[in-house]
Amino acid sequence: MLSILKESKLRCLFYLLWITAVIGVLLTWEHTLHSLGPQQSSLCACHKCLNDDDAGFRKVVNASHKPFLSRNYNISKDAFNWWKKIQRERRDFSFFQMTVDKLFHVFPPVPDVVESSPDRCRTCAVVGNSGNLKGSYYGPLIDFHDVVIRMNRGPTKGYEKDVGTKTTHHVMYPTSAIYLDNTTHLVLFPFKIRDLEWLLSAFEPANVNSQSRANKDLVMILNPAFMKYVHETWLQKKGKYPSTGFMTLILSLQICDEVNVFGFGADRRGIWNHYFEILQNKKFRTGNHQGKYEYKAIEQLAQFGKIVLFKGW
Ligand code: C5P
Repeated sequence: MLSILKESKLRCLFYLLWITAVIGVLLTWEHTLHSLGPQQSSLCACHKCLNDDDAGFRKVVNASHKPFLSRNYNISKDAFNWWKKIQRERRDFSFFQMTVDKLFHVFPPVPDVVESSPDRCRTCAVVGNSGNLKGSYYGPLIDFHDVVIRMNRGPTKGYEKDVGTKTTHHVMYPTSAIYLDNTTHLVLFPFKIRDLEWLLSAFEPANVNSQSRANKDLVMILNPAFMKYVHETWLQKKGKYPSTGFMTLILSLQICDEVNVFGFGADRRGIWNHYFEILQNKKFRTGNHQGKYEYKAIEQLAQFGKIVLFKGW
């Protein structure tokens, strides 16, 4: 009897020790997980953030000038002098500054950009106008992104299954301009002062009865100094200046945490064909832009896992 009592006491002691050991292990585990926290903390809430774990890439992205003009920001004379050459601007820096000043009496003084945050995942689709979108069935995938950036005359109507329906931002300049709905940001890429003047005139009160170009509270204007940065840092000054599509893609690295790219790539003959038309000018290549070099840079970004490039069919 005594030996049975002794045995059960021992068993109890053994169980107590075992439970204490298990609790100890669990506590240590929790502590380890906790202490791993700061290392795991990310710049955004996506599965993978553009700028995580890559100091080199971050350095290149951070070397950028502010991507958009705003009321309290001045570009340098050096940047202006680069910009004025791309489309032979004749007017001087002070005229440029005066025009910019006028802009911010009409348009938002600070661009409407969602800032990065550890509890946010800003997914972006950058949609170029390449013919490789035709028959791609990318529409639903493109629409799935928070931000969908389209450009120039790229339409959605009639092409929904391949390009989607959603547009949060539409990049344009006067000769490529289309009319936008009330919820889409008009992103002007200005190549000369006259483009800024065009924007002002498009929203003049005298024009309010005609169809409005876009919601004036959602207008954003690309910074000429950002164009220079893209030309020098990303294209090693190849071509006269970067294409609209390439600048848009590099812009997306500034305002998105995850970038998926659609509608880029020339056809077999090196022609920048469009998904929405049959090009009449068969000699048309990539004009002032180094199409091949830009495409290589895009492919490299994809190879390094910074973007995903959807090549269509
Ligand atoms: O032709 P468009 O300039 O309107 O096209 C917008 C952008 O899409 C171009 O600036 C270019 O970067 C890209 N694009 C392309 N391949 C094409 C057509 C356009 O990479 N076939």
